[in-house]
Amino acid sequence: MITARLSAEDDFDGWRNQCRGLMRLGARPADVIWQVGEQRTDLFASPESNIEAAPIGVPKGFAELARSVICHSDPERFGLLYGLLVDLKARRRHMGDEADPLLRKLEIMAKHVRRDIHKMRAFLRFRRVEEDGGEEHFIAWFEPEHHIVRTNAAFFVRRFAGMKWSILTPQLSIHWDRQKLLEASAALKEDAPTEDDIEEQWKTYYGSIFNPARLKVKAMLKEMPKKYWHNMPETALVTELIQSARNREVAMIEKDIVPSAPDTLPTLHAEANRCRRCPLHGPATQLVFGEGPSSARLMFVGEQPGDQEDRSGRPFVGPAGQIFDAALTQAGLDRTQSYVTNAVKHFKFRPEGKRRIHERPNVGEINHCRWWLKREIELVKPDLIVALGATAARSLTGRALPITVSRGQIFESLEGVPVLVTIHPSYLLRLPDPEATERERVRFVEDLKSAQSHVA
Ligand code: URA
Repeated sequence: MITARLSAEDDFDGWRNQCRGLMRLGARPADVIWQVGEQRTDLFASPESNIEAAPIGVPKGFAELARSVICHSDPERFGLLYGLLVDLKARRRHMGDEADPLLRKLEIMAKHVRRDIHKMRAFLRFRRVEEDGGEEHFIAWFEPEHHIVRTNAAFFVRRFAGMKWSILTPQLSIHWDRQKLLEASAALKEDAPTEDDIEEQWKTYYGSIFNPARLKVKAMLKEMPKKYWHNMPETALVTELIQSARNREVAMIEKDIVPSAPDTLPTLHAEANRCRRCPLHGPATQLVFGEGPSSARLMFVGEQPGDQEDRSGRPFVGPAGQIFDAALTQAGLDRTQSYVTNAVKHFKFRPEGKRRIHERPNVGEINHCRWWLKREIELVKPDLIVALGATAARSLTGRALPITVSRGQIFESLEGVPVLVTIHPSYLLRLPDPEATERERVRFVEDLKSAQSHVA
């Protein structure tokens, strides 16, 4: 018997190296014992075997399959994969054979791993704690079914690069301090906090990455940790976490698990017309979708259509739209070259006699509509988004940003696109004092010029 040691449960590189050595030795799968331990000794590097490391050519698709399967929790996985590899090399099996029971078993295992990766991205929930000194630290507890925490680390680094966060799991913990990723030992559920004051922001985040019709987000939110977080486990630097990020796998997961989304603005528009995610579609005349070229470098996001937009089916054509158009012209911007849309796509109002009085969309309505806005952003890929008012700013960034303090500043949308925050043009309609109105109008034009300069 030969013992092949791996350094960790998800040690794909170690497994591959061991396979090279085993193949050179001609080891039969049944003669190999796979062990996960502290120290890995590469078979090909051992003095006795005197075998040099040499890459083994593998058939197309095998490496991708193996990378996923290695993260499965089944202890047999290393041997099963090695068995498949030996047979592939000996041409006893081939990757395209759909009837092959071993291949099918491994493909199902890979799928479970991808699903677990996606679940972690979808349902992991950070809680905010304040450290001594007032620094914010976001901590989450997650119990993966498979060994996917390292694989997923790069995703969270990318998604939450600007936050200090820790993800605690029963397998290991990872910590991001905005610059480097640290790995530490397993944690207990009790190590994670339970409550914070950012519930709504997280709902926005979830709303932006899910199709709520397909995923039971609320049910999952209930499964969150019970006790307050106190101490960080001791840490050790592991820079290779980021390097080993598996971007290809990310693409596969999204293709495999996330329902396919419309991939042009007209098809997205057509699908949005059928949206029934929230009750606002009922009283509204029609959905008001975004307008403008998909090549636009600037995107403007308002709050929701008003009375005239609801009747015409086009954004910003009523009184606020006229102010917006005039300010754009003054700032030297061509509206037809920009993409103009709203955070919420149906008019929300309360009837008063014959009049329809505008009502602010609530957080749930903003979140339901976030899916459409996200797809618009992904399809247009603007260089800069201008958030017109607080509703747009919240929807885009997932944060409550008071306009008085955030105006003129650049934030990041949940998709990672820069967001410049400014007033909603209707604010200028509400100011009672003409002098203040003029002052604010000039500032608004300045904000638009600043947006222009970012994409010039
Ligand atoms: N206000 C908005 O936020 N959007 C519109 O389309 C019209 C008015």
